[in-house]
Amino acid sequence: MSDNPYHNDRGNKDRSITKPPAESMGDPVSPSGAATKAEGDNPFLIGRAMTGGYGKGADILHECTISVEPGEIAVIVGPNGAGKSTAMKAVFGMLNLRKGHVLLDGEDITALSPQDRVVKGMGFVPQTSNIFTSMTVEENLEMGAFIRRDDFRQTMEQVYNLFPILRDKRRQPAGELSGGQRQQVAVGRALMTKPKVLMLDEPTAGVSPIVMDELFDRIIEVARTGIPILMVEQNARQALAIADKGFVMVQGRNAFTGTGKELLADPEVRKSFLGG
Ligand SMILES: Nc1ncnc2c1ncn2[C@@H]1O[C@H](COP(=O)(O)OP(=O)(O)OP(=O)(O)O)[C@@H](O)[C@H]1O
Ligand SMILES: [Mg+2]
Repeated sequence: MSDNPYHNDRGNKDRSITKPPAESMGDPVSPSGAATKAEGDNPFLIGRAMTGGYGKGADILHECTISVEPGEIAVIVGPNGAGKSTAMKAVFGMLNLRKGHVLLDGEDITALSPQDRVVKGMGFVPQTSNIFTSMTVEENLEMGAFIRRDDFRQTMEQVYNLFPILRDKRRQPAGELSGGQRQQVAVGRALMTKPKVLMLDEPTAGVSPIVMDELFDRIIEVARTGIPILMVEQNARQALAIADKGFVMVQGRNAFTGTGKELLADPEVRKSFLGG
């Protein structure tokens, strides 16, 4: 049982932005049934013991495992160059793994392309180049819906309700927006696919503490709609405070894993990664 204050509020109360599992997976395990299983027993998304690097280069990841449980927020922290983004890219299928597997809702998707993973229900917001700067805000959101054949206006409405500033700026080129607003466009674009799980690489990079708090609030709101969130964060302290699960990565390996609360209280983690 998590001590996270948001934990008990989260879950599948409003799944309107999410893709119903039956739609593309046909999995007999219901989301709520899965959520009642013991913690760690049933990750919704897991990159397990991933080893690999870029092209023919040296391995960056060494038996690295990251995961997120149904209805939860999982956070990956660690020093620059630790391989956090590489681990996210590996889970999204942008890296050829030499060892390890990626499982989504129990299905081995290690061999799938990133595009096929999007179809399976994965939303990914990369650390850089995550919006089309010359396109308007609304065009960015429309691009996000590229895999959908159905009417996506309702989802766009939900994105605008989540990020009202984007509605005001919908006709403006996304490149004219502030850093925090651009991140909202990036997250909104990913939500347009109605993902079953959302992966965010440093969603609060380069924004002020106030904007960071606001973005975290919105991310918690998304999690409450039933979309598990796996995110990398530079603001380790604040991110672990809202995390159900945390992974500290160092040199491509898992250094510490625990609940957000456990990691925040761990003297070793505090000393080495949280500034004391
Ligand atoms: N496209 C790439 N090709 C080759 N090596 C890369 C590539 N991207 C990253 N690397 C290398 O992989 C290692 C891990 O980088 P990565 O970007 O995953 O770290 P990170 O933990 O996300 O760092 P940061 O906190 O700065 O975002 C680094 O040594 C980096 O130089
Ligand atoms: Mg990174």
